[in-house]
Amino acid sequence: MKVNQAEFVISAVGPSQYPEDALPEIALAGRSNVGKSSLINCLISRKNLARTSSQPGKTQTLNYYKVNQDLYFVDLPGYGYAKVSKTKREQWGKFIENYLLNRETLRLVMQLVDLRHPPSKDDQAMYEWLRHNDVPVLVVATKADKIPKSQWAKHLKIVRETLGMDKGVQPLMFSSELTLGKDELWGILEQAIAY
Ligand code: GTP
Ligand code: MG
Repeated sequence: MKVNQAEFVISAVGPSQYPEDALPEIALAGRSNVGKSSLINCLISRKNLARTSSQPGKTQTLNYYKVNQDLYFVDLPGYGYAKVSKTKREQWGKFIENYLLNRETLRLVMQLVDLRHPPSKDDQAMYEWLRHNDVPVLVVATKADKIPKSQWAKHLKIVRETLGMDKGVQPLMFSSELTLGKDELWGILEQAIAY
């Protein structure tokens, strides 16, 4: 995808604020700090359009980014952040659940996991929930630059097995730091929005 234009559109706190132009949407899910905003910036070749922070749990809204007249990236709040209150977590759950189940323009969820570590219980629950509800999901294993290349295959296998991914389905390896996996990922996203 040639990105000619990318802009932040809205931080939506409810469905009434979602865009109404019916462009396809690609959502990003993953625990706080896994690198969702960084991946968006990497894909659109902008340093800091999607706000990144070292403060996990910052993003609490659905942040819409429009790419050309082609698609939206929807940056979801990170899950599994312990310091967020239980009530907040439950509200988060309902809000995101509704979006993921009912948003007609949603084409794909990129679920980000950290390649360095086995997926957490939250990661596993999220993946299972998406599969169970037939939400199209692509697992992206990011921060690959943080481990030696010689260990990538081993770590990918752990991600696959811990999430219980079907045989023949692979996580996509990515690094925002190295711009690794970008072309391959765009290829998949273009297919996802093509119909
Ligand atoms: P929340 O908005 O809190 O849910 O976090 P997020 O998932 O959007 O994470 P964000 O993109 O803000 O990245 C969190 C931290 O990880 C930042 O310090 C990034 O610089 C760093 N980071 C993200 N991706 C990578 C990567 O591929 N490699 C390395 N080395 N660091 C990364
Ligand atoms: Mg973020």
